[in-house]
Amino acid sequence: MSPKKLVDVKDLQVHFPVFGGVLSRKIATVKAVDGVSFSINAKQTIGLVGESGCGKTTVGRAMISILSHVSPDVQITGSIEYHFDEGIVDFVKQHPKSMQKYRSKVQMIFQDPYASLNPRMTVAQIISEPLLIHTKMTKKEIRDRVAWLLEKVGLRSSQSRRYPHEFSGGQRQRVGIARAIATNPELIICDEPVSALDVSIQAQVINLMMDLQDEFDLSYLFIAHDLSVVEHISDRIVVMYLGDVVEFGDAEDVYHSPKHPYTRALISAVPVADPKLKKKKRVILQGDIPSPMAKPSGCGFRNRCPIAKPDCADKKPQLIDRGKNQLVACPYWEEDF
Ligand SMILES: Nc1ncnc2c1ncn2[C@@H]1O[C@H](COP(=O)(O)OP(=O)(O)OP(=O)(O)O)[C@@H](O)[C@H]1O
Ligand SMILES: [Mg+2]
Repeated sequence: MSPKKLVDVKDLQVHFPVFGGVLSRKIATVKAVDGVSFSINAKQTIGLVGESGCGKTTVGRAMISILSHVSPDVQITGSIEYHFDEGIVDFVKQHPKSMQKYRSKVQMIFQDPYASLNPRMTVAQIISEPLLIHTKMTKKEIRDRVAWLLEKVGLRSSQSRRYPHEFSGGQRQRVGIARAIATNPELIICDEPVSALDVSIQAQVINLMMDLQDEFDLSYLFIAHDLSVVEHISDRIVVMYLGDVVEFGDAEDVYHSPKHPYTRALISAVPVADPKLKKKKRVILQGDIPSPMAKPSGCGFRNRCPIAKPDCADKKPQLIDRGKNQLVACPYWEEDF
């Protein structure tokens, strides 16, 4: 039986207009996401990696449809089609008012749990909030569910009257996770959920997330800077560069036999002594990532690419299947460059 598809992102573009001058006219466009396609199956984890500013958070925010709250002038095109039991729903085309009934199905957890948890609310209030908004549960039912959720994420139900500052970073992220799973979502967007935590705590939180995934049949979009963080928890990995997907494949293939020159450079930056990785030639990138307001024509990576050819400036490379469903956006890729 083929796996159940949960969401299909097709040619997603997110552009932020920049206004300036005395008349406050549009003077430029930040092409934060510039034609991104990938899909997530039920119970699957997709890792989304790339350097700072490549558009990861913007993809995540588009997928929970909160961009227009953050930036009212944002221009979003393409589609984000969720395959819910009641039918296919495109979050790009939904009117904000009709979004309400789907919000409980897709949740987000953030890098900095301290900034994302209201410091004036108790943990019980924080976790109850989505239940009050999205369910018709009674006060007693909500109290019981909060206690149950706290235990599920490895905290004590007796801690429900405490405030976020009374918890450690790892515990605060557990509170964020409890809030995210409160309404039985199908997908959780995890925006660098462990990067602010100590390494020893990172593993505990990731293990908790994997246990919860099994128990509640969750799908994750797991955002990180670094491939080594997502490699062992992801089924498939999307690599982004300057608003584009450059590679999308099974986690093991992307990590152990990266094909796009940018993915190879990212792997070269992984500081682990992995003998399999050592055999490959290291790709060290020159220069900085260009601004998404001044993207190079054609391939966005060509200015930093060790194998660029003159015609890379002509048109944007499409994702091509290089075997085993490993999609690579580079026509000049060869096994040994
Ligand atoms: N509301 C906004 N208005 C204008 N530009 C924005 C807005 N949000 C993001 N951007 C720009 O879009 C680009 C992508 O940003 P985004 O936050 O998605 O990147 P990221 O990959 O999550 O980076 P990081 O790894 O640092 O979190 C950046 O150039 C950023 O400055
Ligand atoms: Mg981000």
